[in-house]
Amino acid sequence: MALYAIGDLHLSLGADKPMEIFGEQWENHPDKLRLGFAGLSDDDITVLCGDTSWGMDIEDAREDFAFIDSLPGRKIILKGNHDYWWTTASKMNGFLKRNGFGTICFLHNNCYEYSEGGKEFAICGTKGSFFEEETGNEHDRLILNREAGRLKTSLEKAGTREKIVFLHYPPIYLNYRCGDILTLLKEYEVRYCYYGHIHGKGHASAFNGWAGGTQFKLVSTDYLGFKPEKIILY
Ligand SMILES: [Fe+2]
Ligand SMILES: [Fe+2]
Repeated sequence: MALYAIGDLHLSLGADKPMEIFGEQWENHPDKLRLGFAGLSDDDITVLCGDTSWGMDIEDAREDFAFIDSLPGRKIILKGNHDYWWTTASKMNGFLKRNGFGTICFLHNNCYEYSEGGKEFAICGTKGSFFEEETGNEHDRLILNREAGRLKTSLEKAGTREKIVFLHYPPIYLNYRCGDILTLLKEYEVRYCYYGHIHGKGHASAFNGWAGGTQFKLVSTDYLGFKPEKIILY
């Protein structure tokens, strides 16, 4: 059993949303993803860090969910800024149940247990936010407050287990620092933080490394070459 992360699958199997316009690396990218997941087993867990499907509502996203369900292992999905299909937990869980998508669950005001090497971990997370104090408006501030609240709820539910955090938005990017999120990572002594959202030319500016006791890593699909990142816990 191992833990993996990958963000930004940007699937549109049930709709016409060609991803090739974002670069030739996105050509037939579901095939590349299937290949990238080929080395995983059914007892592995992969956290999908947002921007999963272009579907405008959850029924639109059915083929994308069927594809994800067919990939090996359990998949834990959190919300990205393009997940317009995202709705209430009860509606999303009802959709999974109705369709028999038994390998998928959602990370939303909750956490999931994971154990490795005799140690107990908790998979925590939320979408996060890209709010800049100097330029952001009141509405964006409210969104960040809500996201910080969701992360805190997730971390609280983890109890004494070591927490691994998954976000869609990066808490650090160039000169940007998301103070509210970074404060929570410090308060809950989070050593591992994985995020997505950053594509193409943005990869060069992504922060991969240690800051304030936390190791950050970008796991967007195109950054990883369509292969989930195995999380090494130590
Ligand atoms: Fe994305
Ligand atoms: Fe995004």
